[in-house]
Amino acid sequence: MTGGAAGIGRGISELLIQEGARVVIADVDEQTGRRAAAEIGASFIRADVTKDEDLRRLFDEAELALGGISVVVNNAGGVEGPSYPMAPAEEWSAVIDLNLRAVMRVTQLALDRIEAGVVVSIASVAGLGDETHAAPEYAAAKAGVVRLTSAVGAHGGVRLVCVCPDSTRTPAMARTLAARPPGFDPGPMLEPGEVAEVVAGLIRDDSARGRVVLVRAGAPVQVIA
Ligand SMILES: NC(=O)c1ccc[n+]([C@@H]2O[C@H](COP(=O)([O-])OP(=O)(O)OC[C@H]3O[C@@H](n4cnc5c(N)ncnc54)[C@H](O)[C@@H]3O)[C@@H](O)[C@H]2O)c1
Repeated sequence: MTGGAAGIGRGISELLIQEGARVVIADVDEQTGRRAAAEIGASFIRADVTKDEDLRRLFDEAELALGGISVVVNNAGGVEGPSYPMAPAEEWSAVIDLNLRAVMRVTQLALDRIEAGVVVSIASVAGLGDETHAAPEYAAAKAGVVRLTSAVGAHGGVRLVCVCPDSTRTPAMARTLAARPPGFDPGPMLEPGEVAEVVAGLIRDDSARGRVVLVRAGAPVQVIA
């Protein structure tokens, strides 16, 4: 579980553990990650998903810790700070690296090392549709994750699936809201556990290959691909 220390990743980890899975939380935030792992009964491995050497070590250590991997969740992601086209190229490139390249690299390692299983990627409603978005590089990266999932579909015995959540109550969302004017109404919000339920359903459903779903607060799950 990448980015499992907090927010949606922690919520997914917690539900999978309740359902009997053994989970490794991989996160760049060691302090929060170790605390979360201890609280929910996961293992913790420090890894920055944008660093290839961290990812190879992560898979080696996770295989040892779990005795084999059958599910990989690409959850680490997000965007903060100035956006394309005003941001300098290094800044928007870093958003692409975190939200698209790292997902592609983790998925590639999973396809190489896992015989049978599933890779779940957390994209976003930002990657769908035709509306303008405050962070176009984030929207473009998430759209890339959506198409990566449907374009690969499955490889060997490994299925790819993708969940696109709408606004979800997480530390990242709290930081976004703190930057808005007081009294700003963000509208209905998902809880991380609701996104986790959809992820768990896709993990169980062997027929889900290249499937992409949209999750919105108070609305039925919508299949996009
Ligand atoms: N919160 C929302 O409204 C929302 C909506 C749609 C999609 N998403 C997506 O869901 C995912 C989780 O979002 P969240 O809101 O829970 O975020 P969050 O910031 O609350 O938590 C993300 C976690 O990822 C970790 N992380 C960040 N960069 C990392 C890196 N390079 N390597 C390893 N770990 C890293 C952070 O330390 C943190 O623990 C992201 O991919 C985000 O884009 C969130």
